[in-house]
Parts: sequence; structure tokens; C-alpha cells
Amino acid sequence: MKKIYADYNASTPLHPEVIKYLHQRLDLNLWANPNSAHQLGKMLMTAINKCRLICSEILGIEAGNLIFTSGASEGIATIFHAICANKNLGRNLEKNILVISAIEHPAVKASANYYKNFGYKVIEWPVNSNGEIEIEFIKSDLDNIKDKIALIAVMYANNECGVIEPIENIGEFCQQHAIPFFSDTTQYIAKEDFNFNKLPIDFAVLSAHKFAGPLGVGALLVKPAYKNFIKENALIFGGGQEFALRAGTQNYLGIEAMCVALSASVEESRQTKNLFHKFRLQFENELTKKYKKIVILGGDANRRLSQTTLLSYPGIYGPLIQQELESKNIFVSTSAACSEQKEKPSPSLSSSLSSLSSLSSSSIQSTANTIANLMGFSDDVARGMVRISLGGIKENEIDEIYQKIYSELVYSIDKLSKIGSY
Ligand SMILES: Cc1ncc(COP(=O)(O)O)c(C=O)c1O
Repeated sequence: MKKIYADYNASTPLHPEVIKYLHQRLDLNLWANPNSAHQLGKMLMTAINKCRLICSEILGIEAGNLIFTSGASEGIATIFHAICANKNLGRNLEKNILVISAIEHPAVKASANYYKNFGYKVIEWPVNSNGEIEIEFIKSDLDNIKDKIALIAVMYANNECGVIEPIENIGEFCQQHAIPFFSDTTQYIAKEDFNFNKLPIDFAVLSAHKFAGPLGVGALLVKPAYKNFIKENALIFGGGQEFALRAGTQNYLGIEAMCVALSASVEESRQTKNLFHKFRLQFENELTKKYKKIVILGGDANRRLSQTTLLSYPGIYGPLIQQELESKNIFVSTSAACSEQKEKPSPSLSSSLSSLSSLSSSSIQSTANTIANLMGFSDDVARGMVRISLGGIKENEIDEIYQKIYSELVYSIDKLSKIGSY
């Protein structure tokens, strides 16, 4: 049976345009250090700057404010370092509070928590049962501490449930009070329309492998007012590359491939977004009609990524559904693959279903702080989570793929609920 890759939020296959480009590019056999003064180096630097121009036009930012990095995690660490080590912002510790949402990616949570070692306090904003930050509630909460906040970080779209946060409103609040605002846009860019300069955010990040580009390359977007903060407190020191904001010889092949991927994926998602939305809704409605127990996490949110579904059937352990689907060549993930839990599912769960009878609840991984718990759901919901995230599919295949996943999911749920998962 044809493989269905439904783990697009974790990482994406390379776009066919990228593969074509790389084949041609490798045949050119063009190599040098792009910072070298000779002709070969200059050619490569010209190519990098052309990519910077193309990417910045797509992302709505001036080319000089886009810095190539190794991916989103590096960009995130750079931002926290720029703020927390800067004597005019965080380091004087008059502003010693970092505010993040409770559902941030581990790269944000760990970066914020690292600076606790240097006297910072981290406040986590809770989300409601839809996975959304309730801005009105927050505004009143923030009034007392707003003068002490060094940075607010709220992701644009969540990697697990796909919920899109009201960053426009949060950004307005930040602008009113001159609080630096970072939004982790890793999952949002190339899936939804995005224009950095039109948004009230000061920093954003992206990672090419989330939009059909290669691993290990990304970018940091910064508003001009904060460029010097990064320069004065760069995370990586060295040869002054990337306007002295990020040292290290540029990954020019990766940058070129990312540029091709961004152009192709942004164009494609404009064409497929509405179809994903339509067929994803149909898929979710059919599931919730068939099974009263099933929960779609973030299903009632105001906005959600059009290709992401995080569902749970309480009573059936998510990794078992994942395994069943995998046996049908459908590749999904559970929260264990992408949440902050370091603990992997017990190896006993990866063995055959015949071992189910010996499965005790103590061998099921702990669910504390999964996104389901943070949204106020029970551990049963947390244990059942399965994420289906699609992408890179032609318009005429979307319906068929959702139908295929639906029928195999129904088969798996019916089979596993007869056995009794836990
Ligand atoms: C929302 C979000 N932020 C940051 C990252 C980190 O990206 P990378 O692994 O490319 O550094 C990811 C990747 O899973 C993500 O989904």
C-alpha cells in the first residue's frame, strides 16, 4: 500500500523542486568559502544574498534583517541570549521576568528556564481548553508586572494541536508597553499567510525542514530596533558573518535549497489551504459522529492550522494506534514524539499487540504537562493522543488521503477497543 506520511509537523520530505535544484546544483561542482575575496567566494556570496532577498520578499521583511541560522532552535536561543545578556534590557535585572505560554516548544521553554540560573523568573501563561491564550485575562494579570518583563514569547501556531494564538493582540499590548515580543513562527510560516513587518512582533524564527527544505538550516527575523541587541550579545562568536549577528561559514547549499523550498511551499499552501481545511473538518466531524468518546484537541479554537489534527480516544494508548496505522503504511505521531516529555514510551509497548494483556498502567508513560493536561484534559485524554499532520499533497489527493486515514483509524480503534488498551 502507498505510504502516507502524516507527520509533516515533525519534519517534511524534500520538495521535488528542491531535489531537482540540488541535483543541478551539485553538477555545477561549485564550492568555496562564500566569505573569501576571490571570484568563487564572491559568486557564492552573491547567491546567498539573492536567496536572502527572495526569502525576505516572501516573508515581508527587509533583507538586512533576515539572518540565516541552523534552524529554529538556534534562532530561539539567540533571541533569549540577546535579551537576557543585554545590560539595557534584561541583565540589569530591573526587568527580570520572562513570560512564555505554557504550550511553547521545548526550545523556548528550555531557553527561558536556562536564564533562571541568572536571576530571571519565568511565568508561564496558561491556555484555555481550546489551547488558546485568553488575552483579556492576561492583560489584567500583566498590569502589575509589565515594567519588569524582559521578554514575552508566544508561539504563532502550536506544533501539536495546530492552534493559532492571538499574537496580534498580544503584540499590541507589548508595543504599548515597549516589551520585546518574540513569536515562534516555525509551524506557521509556509502554511499560512505571513508578513513579518505587518505583525507586532520583534523576533520570529523559521526552520527549512518544516516546509520541505533540508534539515539544519533556518532563519531569524528581527525588527531593526533589536538588531544591535543581538550584535552586542551574539550567541556564536567568530568571523562576523551574517552582519556580525551570527558567526560561522554560511551553509550556502542549505540556504539555496531553503529558498527554493520556501518559494514552492508558500505558493502551494495558498492553493491547498482551503482544501485541507474542508477535508480535515469533514474527517474530524465523521470521527466525532462515529465515536462520542473521541476528543479533537483544539477543535473549537478560533483558528487552527488547516492540516493538523490532534485527536484522542480515551482508553486507547496513542502509541498503539500509531503502531496499528504504521502497519498500514500510515505514519502519524503521538505527543511523545514532539512534546517536552523526555521519557519515551515503554519498549514493551513497541512489541506485538499480544503483549497487551500484560500491560499495566504503570508501564504507560507519565502524562504530566502534555498539551492535553495543559488544556485541562484528563490523563486518559493525554495518553490517547495521536497527531495527524499532512502536507506536500496534490489538491486532488487530499480528500482521498483523509478518507484512507479515516478508514484505517476506525479499524484500529475498533480493534484496540475490543482488546482494551489500558
Ligand atoms: C514550534 C517549533 N519551534 C521550534 C522547533 C525547533 O526547530 P528545529 O528543530 O528545526 O530547531 C520546532 C521543531 O519541532 C517547532 O515545531
